[in-house]
Amino acid sequence: MKTWILLGAPGAGKGTVAEMLVQEANVRHVSTGDMLRSAIKAGTPVGLEARGYMERGELVPDKTILDLVGDLIRSEASDRTILFDGFPRTKDQAAGLDLLLAGFGGKVDAVFQLDVPEALLIDRLAGRRVCRACGAVYHIRNIPTRVDKVCDKCGGEVIQRPDDTEETVRNRLAVYARQTLELIAFYRERGVLFDIAAGGPRQETLQAVLRAAASHSV
Ligand code: AP5
Repeated sequence: MKTWILLGAPGAGKGTVAEMLVQEANVRHVSTGDMLRSAIKAGTPVGLEARGYMERGELVPDKTILDLVGDLIRSEASDRTILFDGFPRTKDQAAGLDLLLAGFGGKVDAVFQLDVPEALLIDRLAGRRVCRACGAVYHIRNIPTRVDKVCDKCGGEVIQRPDDTEETVRNRLAVYARQTLELIAFYRERGVLFDIAAGGPRQETLQAVLRAAASHSV
């Protein structure tokens, strides 16, 4: 089993590219943000703990995240490449992931760093809309639904994510700069980091990721 990571600021397009990679490269998409949102919806203890952190745009504690990811890796039956989106976000999470993977003779094979100018990040987050039912992601201008506020995929209601308010977005970007940005150097030193210019159309980003993976056989 291979392990890929999508690293990038809030709004860089990690979830969008991940969904395209599921179609194009048959990867298993694992988003810790989606796992936490499901836990909140289900009212589990993890969800109750995570809610406040997420509403403030802060990171959920490392131990909670590593427990969630550990359970998932241990229960993973298929040989498909796992694509993490939004994980790891701290050096402790990165170290925890190494330990978990080592338990299965695995390692981090590739980290795709989605590079997007900050002004574009804010525009993408302000315009993002998500389906309340299936989680599909849209953008009011760039990737609109066919019918206003109705999901193209499942017909569910399309809403703004609660942590996409201006104040929370500002905090999420600051938290990224303070706690996650250093992972770029961390993985670059290991020789597994690929810089992907991700400010253009999503098809271009997808092709850049696929080219990087193919040319390095990762
Ligand atoms: P999470 O859900 O992971 O959010 P995030 O990292 O802030 O990333 P986003 O989902 O906001 O953006 P994205 O990069 O996926 O962009 P998207 O594809 O949607 O985390 C949420 C919270 O959960 C965190 O704040 C934290 O509290 C907690 N959490 C999660 N993981 C954690 C962890 N490991 N440790 C601790 N806490 C954790 O695209 C954005 C918009 O742009 C969309 O509207 C999309 O349609 C549009 N778009 C995308 N690509 C393009 C393009 N190429 N051109 C035009 N528009 C585009």
